Amino acid sequence: MNLISIADLGREDVLRLIQSAEAFRARRGQHGQPLAGKSLAMIFEKPSTRTRISLEVAAWELGGHPLYLSAGELQLGRGETIADTARVLSRYVHAITARVYSHSTLLQLAEHAQVPVVNALSDWEHPLQILADLQTMQQSFGSLEGLDIGWIGDGNNVCNSLILASAIMGMNIAVASPPGYSPRERILEEARALGGSPRVVTEPEEAARGADVLVTDTWISMGDEAEEAERLRVFGRYQINSQLLALAGEEAIALHCLPAHRGQEITDEVMDGPRSRVFDEAENRMHTSKAVMAWLMGERQGGGDGPR
Ligand code: CP
Ligand code: NVA
Repeated sequence: MNLISIADLGREDVLRLIQSAEAFRARRGQHGQPLAGKSLAMIFEKPSTRTRISLEVAAWELGGHPLYLSAGELQLGRGETIADTARVLSRYVHAITARVYSHSTLLQLAEHAQVPVVNALSDWEHPLQILADLQTMQQSFGSLEGLDIGWIGDGNNVCNSLILASAIMGMNIAVASPPGYSPRERILEEARALGGSPRVVTEPEEAARGADVLVTDTWISMGDEAEEAERLRVFGRYQINSQLLALAGEEAIALHCLPAHRGQEITDEVMDGPRSRVFDEAENRMHTSKAVMAWLMGERQGGGDGPR
């Protein structure tokens, strides 16, 4: 079993992972160590604060040994193939996480690895992030079904995973992006095939009105740096600010996977305001990572209480 796309999980899997993450949260420092004697390879082609640290701490607190592997310092950087890297790592470790530029790298890793492969962000999806987002939404609203999500900004990797998750969990999503930056048709089709009805709009106000959850992310993802000037020009009004938040539901919360570019996609006022849940969301990265690792690498892997 791999976690390459959030759609590798069904509704029950997601609910079980959130429940497990909540249990790890409640019992931090007292829970068991299902990863004792196991190692996790963490390949990073791109920088990371939350993903790297939450995975490392989570693996360590579960009794496992996390190995941070900068792609440029592996023989990958000198031309060893992804397939051979996957085969060799599988002889040493019990799971591989990878943060990559191209989603196809993850697919190749998964094809040739003998151990679970987990997407730690690609240009196409960010499933670990969305599990933490779902946990955060459940903490705020008690359940996910029927929630109205408004995504403001780039139809990027995080947005893709949220669109799919909305379909899986019975949530409604409206995505407001500048023309040319909407989510790709392939993701929208996949969401529809999962039973979702994602709405794509161009006005931020349209996505925000009545929403329970407003979500945004950087206008310039890792890998998009060459487009910075153009993106700064077109994304200007795709910002979660107090005026936009005022259009959302009375109990609405604001999420951002971070790192935030304060004053661009989100204002200080919202980030630091009473509706912000962004730091709970960041914390939940650790709890959901524990849930994922306990499921994929733990003693009861393939049975017991984890998703199958
Ligand atoms: N949200 C997230 O994935 O953050 P990092 O890039 O710091 O890992
Ligand atoms: N969309 C952003 C997310 C960073 C966590 C990126 O890919 O850079």
